[in-house]
Amino acid sequence: MNRKKENYILPDQKLAARRSGKQADIERDMFHLGEDAAMLGQGKKYYIRTYGCQANVRDGETMAGMMELMGYTRTEIPEEGDVLIFNTCAVRAAAEERVLGEIGSLKPWKNAHKGKIIALCGCMAQEEAIVRRVLDSYRQVDLIFGTHNIHRLPDLLHRVSTSGERVVEVLSEEGKIIEDLPVKRTSSCKGYVNIMYGCNKFCTYCIVPYTRGRERSRQQEDIIREIAELKNEGAKEVILLGQNVNAYGKDLKIEDGFTKLLEAAAETGIERIRFYTSHPRDYSITTIEAMRKYPNIMPSLHLPVQSGNDEILRRMARGYSAGSYRKLVDEMKERIPDITFTTDLIVGFPGETDEQFRDTLDLVDYCRFDMAYSFVYSPREGTPAAKMEDSIPLEVKKERLQILNQKLSGHASANNAKYLGQRLKVLCEGRSKKNENMYAGYSEHNKLVNFSGPEGLEGEIVEVEITAVHSFSLDGKAVANPV
Ligand code: SAH
Ligand code: SF4
Ligand code: F3S
Repeated sequence: MNRKKENYILPDQKLAARRSGKQADIERDMFHLGEDAAMLGQGKKYYIRTYGCQANVRDGETMAGMMELMGYTRTEIPEEGDVLIFNTCAVRAAAEERVLGEIGSLKPWKNAHKGKIIALCGCMAQEEAIVRRVLDSYRQVDLIFGTHNIHRLPDLLHRVSTSGERVVEVLSEEGKIIEDLPVKRTSSCKGYVNIMYGCNKFCTYCIVPYTRGRERSRQQEDIIREIAELKNEGAKEVILLGQNVNAYGKDLKIEDGFTKLLEAAAETGIERIRFYTSHPRDYSITTIEAMRKYPNIMPSLHLPVQSGNDEILRRMARGYSAGSYRKLVDEMKERIPDITFTTDLIVGFPGETDEQFRDTLDLVDYCRFDMAYSFVYSPREGTPAAKMEDSIPLEVKKERLQILNQKLSGHASANNAKYLGQRLKVLCEGRSKKNENMYAGYSEHNKLVNFSGPEGLEGEIVEVEITAVHSFSLDGKAVANPV
């Protein structure tokens, strides 16, 4: 194989021309494989299926960027792909089983098309038990790589293609952050921007710290540069990502790093900024002040609470009480009265009694969330909660989830009633999934709005008059010539 850098040819010359000298150097380093590998994807297609959270979505965008630099073109139909990438989530057992089911169903297809490549990556690949299971029982998988080495995709793919052997490369430890990887974004009007990777919280039920490693913050200047680039390319919104954004900068010894970053992001002048996920334990009042000060920091907050019972929160190791959570919500509503709140909730944590579950319902009544992701607890091997005694039957847990969901949707529709007849600013993301003749987008308060309007509104911030309200969405029509 020719490893000489000079022989590297970017498959997409137009793309190459747009990139800075530094960027091109990085790409050459990444594809230090010679012309043959850089051209590996000529005439071929790739398919990426991403599960899980936005961190995975952003990783999927990086992988797509690398695939396209190798000459592959994207397909949304798995059977059309020459390389199929399953970018997986390990947060609950059901998510894992779904992935394995899908890969399992591809076995006959793979047998009939020996040259095709199936890759498994993402959080499941960081679990030893899963890797062993896939190696033993899913022979159709050719490549497994983890969350710490996605930049190695071109090299690994080249190895699989040239050797015809199965390749596994999973690193147990996170390395240094690698900047300037290529990216093929899924949306042109909004962009995900990682501000940090990993998590140090070790909530007792959660696998993320094991699959994503310890907290590492990106340098503020790199983040701001990415936001400015997005803005220049026409994006209207950035979404800052981290498992616990409030811890941003701690590893870099920056005090109150997240608020400082948020302010610098707001100063770029990008029209909208959102951030996921906030942790109630680390939330700083200065962050609320920044949200109040800058109109381009959107007035909505995702603040996972998990449970409304102190004993359960203690056993989850969340580091706050139900009372302190309520107080935080009160303080925010006092400072930003129209703020909207969303949360995550777990029912059926090991040993959760009916009474403890009722505390969660009480907290939900108190906070009146606009939306919540609610889950039945799923034991994750290797986490402390998986070893806790749990005598609550699954049926009871499912029943609790139903009760909780009913309550949540009641609050959501009551909250939405106030928007009827109002004019909201909506970032139009494209056609509505509900109705092809309508557009869909999100309001400043992060409400999904389906609306009618003239041609050509995609990617624009549109004034929409709300004509109907539902629990989890609003309907409306674009206002012609807004004043
Ligand atoms: N970093 C974020 C979210 C991480 S995972 C945070 O701390 O809030 C997203 C959500 O999945 C969590 O908020 C939690 O509600 C849920 N979750 C995590 N582990 C789970 C498990 N073992 N069983 C059920 N739900 C879980
Ligand atoms: Fe998981 Fe807790 Fe970290 Fe969130 S903060 S990723 S729930 S360990
Ligand atoms: Fe899932 Fe990994 Fe995200 S476990 S929730 S994809 S960090």
